[in-house]
Amino acid sequence: MATIKAAILGFGTVGQGIYHILNEKREELRDKLGLEIEVAKILVRDTTKERIPGTAHLLTDNIDDCLSVKGIQVVFEAIVNEEPAFTYLKKAVEHKCHVITANKVMYAKRGPELEQLAKQHGVFVGFEATTAGGVPVIKTMKNILLVNDVSRIQGILNGTTNYILTKMRAEGWTFEEALKEAQALGYAEADPFNDISGQDAFKKLMILSSLAFDEQPNWADVEVIGIDTISAEQVADATEKGLRYRHVAEVEKYSDGTIYARVAPMLVDKEHPLYPVDEVFNAVTMETNYIGTLTLVGPGAGMYPTASVMVEDYAEIIGKRAGFVVTI
Ligand code: NDP
Ligand code: HSE
Repeated sequence: MATIKAAILGFGTVGQGIYHILNEKREELRDKLGLEIEVAKILVRDTTKERIPGTAHLLTDNIDDCLSVKGIQVVFEAIVNEEPAFTYLKKAVEHKCHVITANKVMYAKRGPELEQLAKQHGVFVGFEATTAGGVPVIKTMKNILLVNDVSRIQGILNGTTNYILTKMRAEGWTFEEALKEAQALGYAEADPFNDISGQDAFKKLMILSSLAFDEQPNWADVEVIGIDTISAEQVADATEKGLRYRHVAEVEKYSDGTIYARVAPMLVDKEHPLYPVDEVFNAVTMETNYIGTLTLVGPGAGMYPTASVMVEDYAEIIGKRAGFVVTI
C-alpha cells in the first residue's frame, strides 16, 4: 500500500493534535483512503523542547528539511502569524504539496494568493481550521454557495473571548483568571491580545467575507472593538438584567454592493440566538436566499476540534485527488 508523506509545521496545541489524531485514526484513514500516512518531519522553533515522546527525531527548525523529504505530498501548517507561514506554504505548493492550514492571520490576507498558486501547481489548500475551530463553517458554505447567495453573516468567532465572558458571568471569575484558564486549555492565541482585541475574530470574518462575497471590505474601514472594554461590573449588571455579553462579528453585503463589517461586544437577551452559546463555543448564522437562516454551533477552539477538521481536510483532498468523495 502506498504511503503519503506529510510534514507538520508547528507542534504546539494544534500541531500535536494533528499528530495524535493521525495516530489514533491510522487504521480508519488507511481503510477509507487506501493509503497510509506517515509524518516524516515536524517544523518548530525550538528543537530541544520536550514534546510528544518518540517525536524528537522528527523535529527540525528548517523548512527545507521538511520539503526535501523524498515523496513529501502534504503539509499541515499550525504556526503563527503571516510570516514565515506564507513563505513556507508557498514553497510547499511550488513543491507540489497539498497544504492544510489553521493560520487565519496568514490566510485572511494571503489566502487568495495561495489558492491561485495552488491552482497553478495542481494542488489543494485546506483551510477549515482557520475559522471557528471545529465548526465546519467553510465546508458548509462551500456546499451551499453554488445555489445560495449569502447576504449576511453574524456570529461568535472567537472561543477564548466567549469562554472569558462566560466564566466572568457564570462563575464570577476575574478577567485575568478566565484568560489564564483559556490559555491553559489551549484556546488562546500565542499572543492572547489577538483574541481579546477582536483581531482574531476580525481575520476569521474576513475569510468568511471572501467566501461569501468573493471580496473583503477595506480592513481600515472595519470597526474592531475587543472585550477589554467590558468591566466585571458591567458583566454583573447585565446578568442582573437578564442580558449576556457576546463578542459578535458581522459582515453584510448591501444591495448597492458595499460590504459592511464590524466586530464588537453586544448585549443580547433570552430571545437572541447567541444567548445560550456559552464556554468555548462559536456560532455562525448565515442569511441566505433559498435556505433562509442557517446556524452552526460548536467548539470554536482547542486541540482536538481544530486538529480533527484539518485531518478531515486531508481526507477530502486526498479523496478528491483520487477522484472520489470520502465519507467517513
Ligand atoms: P501554539 O503556540 O501552541 O504552537 C505554535 C507552534 O508553532 C509551536 O510549536 C512553535 O514552535 C511553532 N512556531 C511558531 N512560529 C514558528 C516559526 N517562525 N517557525 C517554526 N515554528 C514556529 O499555537 P496553536 O497550536 O494554538 O496555534 C497554531 C495556529 O493554529 C495559529 O495560527 C492559530 O491561530 C491557529 N489555530 C489555533 C487554534 C487553537 O485552538 N489553539 C484553533 C484554530 C486555529 P515552538 O514550540 O518551538 O515555539
Ligand atoms: N484563539 C482562537 C480562539 C483559536 O480562541 O477562537 C481558534 O481559532
